[in-house]
Amino acid sequence: MKNQFTPLYRIWHWTMAFSVIGLLCTVLLRKTFLSYKTNALIIQEKLAALDVEITLESAKTIAKAIRAPMWEWHYIFAAILGISILLRLVLLFTKEAKHPVIQFLEAPKEEKLKKGVHVLLCLCIALLALSGAILYFHETLGFEKASIGWVKESHEFLMFPLIGTIVLHLGGVLMHEVKTKEPIVSKMIHGDA
Ligand code: HEM
Ligand code: HEM
Repeated sequence: MKNQFTPLYRIWHWTMAFSVIGLLCTVLLRKTFLSYKTNALIIQEKLAALDVEITLESAKTIAKAIRAPMWEWHYIFAAILGISILLRLVLLFTKEAKHPVIQFLEAPKEEKLKKGVHVLLCLCIALLALSGAILYFHETLGFEKASIGWVKESHEFLMFPLIGTIVLHLGGVLMHEVKTKEPIVSKMIHGDA
């Protein structure tokens, strides 16, 4: 049988996994330790203890400035995700990997669920990349920020089905290893040549 886990296929997989995990980490930090709402209150409170009064608006500006260098990583990981999408296009072009929908249609009955999860995973990532790119390049594309509020909402919402499909993917990979004893993770690292 033709090797599935070629070097380029593995580089594609791990580049994409690394960038997606990185993107999720930036969101986690934005919503927790670097939340500008929480940190603005801390800044206001600590300055008040030193007899310095500032408005909540000024405190929010400072908290957003502290968050900014971390959030730059959202765009750095986005660029790495962009590279992985280009690699997948190369794989399609060189016929090293098939389109996930074709893989799903051609899969035997027992592999339909696994391939279905791959389709959903790729769909979520593609839509997140598209909506993210529209948000990032909205000025160049000639969109008013106010008119693309729905794109931002969709971008934020898509994270939840993405997390759901990642959990299913990791669960599926683990189950495959345990049930069949085929070292599939090892193949994704070392290849199957
Ligand atoms: C967020 C991170 C991840 C994403 C987005 C992701 C995405 C994907 C996608 C889309 C495929 C299908 C490939 C195809 O179309 O041919 C795949 C396959 C695979 N992934 Fe991941 N993956 C992630 C993390 C991981 C991790 C952490 C592991 C190992 C523990 C892993 C192990 C595998 C394996 C072994 C396959 C091959 C499955 C098979 O063909 O039977 N993935 N992954
Ligand atoms: C796994 C993929 C991604 C996930 C899970 C994700 C998640 C998110 C979330 C949850 C937000 C909203 C943060 C908030 O306002 O609290 C956001 C904002 C944003 N994302 Fe992503 N994103 C992903 C990929 C991308 C990509 C590929 C780009 C392309 C450049 C991108 C660009 C943006 C932009 C421009 C914003 C708006 C930032 C702002 O209003 O300050 N994202 N993302």
